[in-house]
Amino acid sequence: MLDVEKAATWLSNAKSIAVLTGAGVSAESGIPTFRDAMDGLWAQFEPERLASRQGFMADPKLVWQWYEERRATIKRCRPNSGHIALAELEAKKPVTVITQNVDGLHSQAGSKRVLELHGNIMRNSCFIEGKLLRDDELDTASVPPKCPCGSYARPAVVWFGEFLPEDVLEAAISASRHADVFLIAGTSGVVQPAASLPLLAAERGARIIEINNQESALTPIAHISLRSNFAVMMPKLVSLVS
Ligand code: OAD
Repeated sequence: MLDVEKAATWLSNAKSIAVLTGAGVSAESGIPTFRDAMDGLWAQFEPERLASRQGFMADPKLVWQWYEERRATIKRCRPNSGHIALAELEAKKPVTVITQNVDGLHSQAGSKRVLELHGNIMRNSCFIEGKLLRDDELDTASVPPKCPCGSYARPAVVWFGEFLPEDVLEAAISASRHADVFLIAGTSGVVQPAASLPLLAAERGARIIEINNQESALTPIAHISLRSNFAVMMPKLVSLVS
């Protein structure tokens, strides 16, 4: 039996599936990953300078404009066949998508149960109060725009050194602990606490499947590692799930 067929059998027999996705699942939608050698965002930019509170306080305009560029890129992108297949799986089986991505493409593809561990780049929050801000609340006379309280608005994404939204992380931990099959897709598996979620599943005997076009830090815990592009492999896998 081929690995993809075995993986599909595990998914078909699963009572509860958790999926952890990373930037690799959006690569074929045209969104840069973070650590791919040549074109990864962190190969071109300094994460600490652009994706941290300190970086924002040092130069709010630079950070805001960098996120505006990323937003413009993402607005031009669409879910790929892998995102769509994952949404179709949810119609067949109980699936929780736990994503590190901030691009919103899983929801756009039709996935209903999506936990955005690192927030969503299309939303803004108040730098001081932390609360989400609607676009019509922003004072756009400045760059970055301001919250009604007078503080700057910032992208509502998790920056380096920041805590993840507690309710989302709790739900992700619960989904991981209850999964009998855990699918890891398109992540290098180097950022915590996201990278520990598959371990919570594995220690309770869950079967671990990985889809990645390279080896990752999580490959060693995968019972099946499908070495392929997500947009190719996910549709093939879901087509075999009954
Ligand atoms: P990375 O860029 O670290 O890893 C992308 C992974 O996807 C790598 O393992 C690639 O091999 C794989 N990959 C690339 N293209 C693929 C494709 N077409 N099909 C399948 N796999 C592919 O991105 P993440 O693991 O998501 O954090 O990074 C995790 C976090 O680090 C991000 O959420 C971000 C970043 O700093 C925050 O923003 C807080």
